[in-house]
Amino acid sequence: MEFSRRRLIIGTVGVAAAGCTTSTPDVSGSSAATTEVAETATEPAVVEPTTTTEPARLLVDAPPYSGSFPFALGVASGDPAADSVVLWTRLISSHEQATPLTEGDLEVAVDVSFDDGFEDLVTSSIHVAPREFGHSVHAIAESLPSDTWFYYRFRIGEHTSPVGRTRTTPEPGSLGTAALRFGFSSCQNWESGEYGAHRHLAGEDLDLFVWLGDYIYEYGPGNAGDLPSVGQRQHNSSEVFTLDEYRGRYALYKSDPALQDHHGAHPWIVTWDDHEVDNNHAGTATEDGQAGEPFAARRAAAYQAWWEHMPVRVPPPQPQSDFVIYRSVEWGDLVALHMLDGRQFRSPQPTDGEAVSLPGLGNIGVRQLSDDARNPENSMLGQVQREWLESTVDASTAIWNALGNQVYMHGLNAFVGEVASINTDSWDGYFGERQELLESIGGPDRNLIVLSGDFHSSTAAEVRSDPFDLSGPIMATEFMAPAISSTFPEQLRAFAPLVLGLNPQIRNFSPDNGYMTCEVTEATWTTRLHTLNDVTDAATAVSVAMEFTVMAGQAGVATIN
Ligand SMILES: [Fe+2]
Repeated sequence: MEFSRRRLIIGTVGVAAAGCTTSTPDVSGSSAATTEVAETATEPAVVEPTTTTEPARLLVDAPPYSGSFPFALGVASGDPAADSVVLWTRLISSHEQATPLTEGDLEVAVDVSFDDGFEDLVTSSIHVAPREFGHSVHAIAESLPSDTWFYYRFRIGEHTSPVGRTRTTPEPGSLGTAALRFGFSSCQNWESGEYGAHRHLAGEDLDLFVWLGDYIYEYGPGNAGDLPSVGQRQHNSSEVFTLDEYRGRYALYKSDPALQDHHGAHPWIVTWDDHEVDNNHAGTATEDGQAGEPFAARRAAAYQAWWEHMPVRVPPPQPQSDFVIYRSVEWGDLVALHMLDGRQFRSPQPTDGEAVSLPGLGNIGVRQLSDDARNPENSMLGQVQREWLESTVDASTAIWNALGNQVYMHGLNAFVGEVASINTDSWDGYFGERQELLESIGGPDRNLIVLSGDFHSSTAAEVRSDPFDLSGPIMATEFMAPAISSTFPEQLRAFAPLVLGLNPQIRNFSPDNGYMTCEVTEATWTTRLHTLNDVTDAATAVSVAMEFTVMAGQAGVATIN
């Protein structure tokens, strides 16, 4: 189906010309949607002004619906551009509801306004919530003024959704009217803790939020794999494999009020990591290297459920096709954020290096650095994505280029020895590709910032082409955000000081939960580490533990406070 089946627009007067293209590269095939809106926006439903007084903007009637309140998962927005933004909801009456509300498609009204009372309307239109996609809605609000905040809501029958707040980006060529402020994090295992981090993020003064993966965990109750279950909450089913099971898992996570509030507070830009499908999978193979139909079907179900629940500007996945979610979002000419997919196109993790056991932990994916890891053909991104990234960064006119990336790139040598010991799931397992990539898109004066997550701990670090050769130039600066709730294994905390002593490229390490925020200007990139007092307490306090500064034109962490 097409991405956005908008069939009616009323009251679009007073906004920019319809049919503007977005400032993000079109990896979504969404030009059809753009064309459609351009056509519908000229329909006679728009009131013709007869005086210089602007005519009233009209609310469309809510489509008929007689069921119970269908906005149990809240609302969200995402992938902002200078003239448009994606507005999301999914119509179900409870996160425990297993069957769809109806056997057919539903329709909802979508209102966008300058004010939260919806008196100064921008648009009001009807969108389809297809049964095929779990009655999810991905409405693109278009022809919006740039660098502006809006409010949005959905209506059906007598029901109105919570009100969300979102915004557009500055125009291409502009640096915006103020510093860009955004947050980022990853990893929110339901069983490992509460979402106090989201509660605080919803109240932060941020333009947007970047999610770097592990939105859900696929495990069954009390079976968190290598992750301790320290919280009170339990998963709602055994390990998930089917579309309905993945849907149920997303619905459970999205039932959390703090997460809903955070989605409603500002637009999100999301990518995935491994747990949206299966722990440490690579491409079409499981963690254990098993490829073939059972896993292919599982991955397809996981991809569809992810699309149904995320406010993303990409079309839904098609059977037997790659699902391209890598894309760029530009904040004027200040920051170009390139969201990467480090899972779908991965080569299997290298296994030719000798496995290294850690005392008390056994083999947790640490191996000696090997020939396969050093082979640049062993790819985390896949050739097509890598070429896209290199050409996109090369063509970028932004002052800062940032990678929205899953796993750490700064390198981590786990043991002293002749041969480095590495986590093969990280960029260290794709050592050769990283080297070539950084030499292509990084450099001491290239203003490349790497954002990462996954490791349930946080770092501020300097990235070199060979991270274990400190004589090389710094090619990028990396900030790895702490996890929202997933915890750092208690046994590993004892190793942290030793490991850090062997890895001077890592300028700071913290095993605490929380998030990071960034404040970006032409001259400086400032990242703040926010840590929680108690991840098991939904009302936990949070504090700024550290602040790091990067100066434009000079890769590396310039100051730490
Ligand atoms: Fe994780």
